[in-house]
Amino acid sequence: MPNEIVAPVIQVGKTYKTGDTEITALQASSMDLKAGELTLIIGPSGSAKTTFIITFGLCDLSIFW
Ligand SMILES: Nc1ncnc2c1ncn2[C@@H]1O[C@H](COP(=O)(O)OP(=O)(O)OP(=O)(O)O)[C@@H](O)[C@H]1O
Ligand SMILES: [Mg+2]
Repeated sequence: MPNEIVAPVIQVGKTYKTGDTEITALQASSMDLKAGELTLIIGPSGSAKTTFIITFGLCDLSIFW
């Protein structure tokens, strides 16, 4: 059904820990993925696009360009 929410993403967070260093890349990020819509995640390098996609279990197609 068009505009049906097929994947609600609610309050996703991710903190990377490397030794004593912690980097919170995502903090309480939410969005809705809807049927029949093309959703793009855009932003500057380091803004956590890949982190968001991996954390949510999607495929990061930016590896192709
Ligand atoms: N495996 C990791 N370990 C530690 N820090 C990480 C790791 N992966 C990403 N980060 C950090 O998380 C933040 C977001 O990185 P991410 O790769 O998700 O950004 P991006 O928007 O996909 O960047 P780009 O456009 O360069 O691909 C950055 O500060 C990055 O240094
Ligand atoms: Mg990336």
